[in-house]
Amino acid sequence: MLSEKMEAALNEQINMEAYASFFYMSMASWCDHQGLEGTAQFFYRQSTEEHDHMMRIFRYVLEMDRRAIVPPIEQPPIDCKSIQSIFDEVYAHEQKVTKSINNLVNLANRENDHSTHPFMPWYVTEQREEEALIRNILDKLKLIGDGPQSLYFIDKEITEINAQAASQPGQ
Ligand code: FEO
Repeated sequence: MLSEKMEAALNEQINMEAYASFFYMSMASWCDHQGLEGTAQFFYRQSTEEHDHMMRIFRYVLEMDRRAIVPPIEQPPIDCKSIQSIFDEVYAHEQKVTKSINNLVNLANRENDHSTHPFMPWYVTEQREEEALIRNILDKLKLIGDGPQSLYFIDKEITEINAQAASQPGQ
């Protein structure tokens, strides 16, 4: 059984993961419309991953005999200035999620919650990997630039990242 505080915190995290899924779907839509197919595929995949993150917590809360709440839908940004601005925003968003995951670990510690505590390391690892992936793309953007002539090369680089992700087990 979860404490009410932990139940509320996990439901907040469900909300955050759901928003991330919609946020990435919106970024995918923008990229798709711009003809940036590789980048669009990247965000479609990220969106699905975020949905999985949400469902993992959703099922856990129910398994612990508490209510998992379907969050309201918040409108994510529709238009973007540039690829650079998208990845800057994505990086800031993932850092916010990491902070929230760390707060959940701290709460599980404070509450001596021996179920939630071992449930959280998967998310800690996932956040570390996601932040590293986005930083890697931002580094490439710095090298290539995001002017109109560079977009083709950026999209190609991200297509390469998609291919690597698809070849990894569990992707
Ligand atoms: Fe599930 Fe990227 O936060």
